[in-house]
Amino acid sequence: MAYVVLRHRDIPDLNKFDTYKNNGGLDAFKKAVTEMKPADVTDVVKNSGLRGRGGAGFPTGMKWSFIDNKNWPHYVVANADESEPGTFKDREIMESNPFQFLEGLMLASYAVGANVAYVYLRGEFWEIGAALDEKIAQLEEAGYLGDKLFGTDYSLRIHTHLGAGAYICGEETALLESLEGKRGQPRVRPPFPPSFGLYGKPTIINNVETFTNVPMILANGADWYKTMGTADSAGVKIFSLSGRVRRPGNYELPFGTTFRELIYGEKNGAGVQDSRQVKAIMPAGASSSLIVVNGDEKILDTPMDYATVRTLGADLGSASIIVLDDTVSMDWLVNKTVHFFKHESCGKCTPCREGTFWMKNITERIHDGAGTQGDVDLLLNVAKQMQGKCLCALGEFATMAVTTGIERFPQDFKKAVKA
Ligand SMILES: Cc1cc2nc3c(=O)[nH]c(=O)nc-3n(C[C@H](O)[C@H](O)[C@H](O)COP(=O)(O)O)c2cc1C
Ligand code: SF4
Repeated sequence: MAYVVLRHRDIPDLNKFDTYKNNGGLDAFKKAVTEMKPADVTDVVKNSGLRGRGGAGFPTGMKWSFIDNKNWPHYVVANADESEPGTFKDREIMESNPFQFLEGLMLASYAVGANVAYVYLRGEFWEIGAALDEKIAQLEEAGYLGDKLFGTDYSLRIHTHLGAGAYICGEETALLESLEGKRGQPRVRPPFPPSFGLYGKPTIINNVETFTNVPMILANGADWYKTMGTADSAGVKIFSLSGRVRRPGNYELPFGTTFRELIYGEKNGAGVQDSRQVKAIMPAGASSSLIVVNGDEKILDTPMDYATVRTLGADLGSASIIVLDDTVSMDWLVNKTVHFFKHESCGKCTPCREGTFWMKNITERIHDGAGTQGDVDLLLNVAKQMQGKCLCALGEFATMAVTTGIERFPQDFKKAVKA
């Protein structure tokens, strides 16, 4: 099957303007601006069933249709923060297929009537930011960005912006605060960005991978997109596979591909290192609940789509599949994830600021061999008390590995504590 998002793997040099253009690139944008109404572009995306790839899987066309047309100007922002441990797909897209990403951002901007769009990049992506600036300049020079495009009244400019390296700035409202030059902390919602976003104006925020699907959907049609994937989750997804597999990497596969095919397929993960057994899977990076596998064949045959993964007590999220084998003890894993979230908690709300602090202290004690069963119970209690009380999802994410680790792998914690 030909690639949809990782098309550079089929077409060498796709990151060059001429190659992109010679392979049909930018035709969809020109056609949209010159022949389609903005709402028609949104309708195609809506009908394709495309869902956001940033984690929540929210229907993209529906989000675009929420833009408040009574309040102007409008903005579109690409979330290129990519900070979830285990996620490394947006980086490959922006490095190797940047024009398709930018064209998707341009189509979204046209669809919602935005004349200015931003790419918000994590601070460590400064080289990618500089390369994107060059691509944007090329698009301006060739007449695809700028004033009165193709002789119409539509104008569009794109700017890149580097963050300072904070996981919370991937959360869309913290991202907007940071883009406005303020401290990157989440806003209370509602109002949501399509009505109150950047500078208080209606704003659409999507993930890089989400945008990169859009030119192909416009070029080939909504029905073509729906021939791939499942009824619940249309199209293809990039699975960032890591952990104890033989071949970690990004794999673009249709939604509904099984965990087994991703982990064991010869062209994919090629199996677990040292031929060990899969003990658990984190399907959504460090934010994930732990799916218990322990060699259970049925679990490995589960199709990966948003609805089915939920039946295993986890979310697919951004599909950063971390594979854990029987060399990993869950007290170690929980200690690692809690450290990360304690470090990244922005401190704005008490349950997350204090909760992650105390969870870190307790997990460290357990991991150092100085903990007791009472500490394990206390850790679970703190995590459960945080749930449902945090201002943004980071606080919830911090509890996922803790609660599912203790509840689904109690034997690992029993071994880790003093008798
Ligand atoms: C703590 C936190 C970090 C996030 N990090 C990212 C990120 O790095 N990239 C991303 O696209 N979305 C991230 N999100 C999700 C965004 O808030 C938002 O839902 C997403 O960018 C919307 O795009 P989509 O509809 O295309 O998925 C994060 C959310 C939270 C709560
Ligand atoms: S949940 Fe954590 S990261 Fe989110 S606002 Fe509260 S303190 Fe900040």
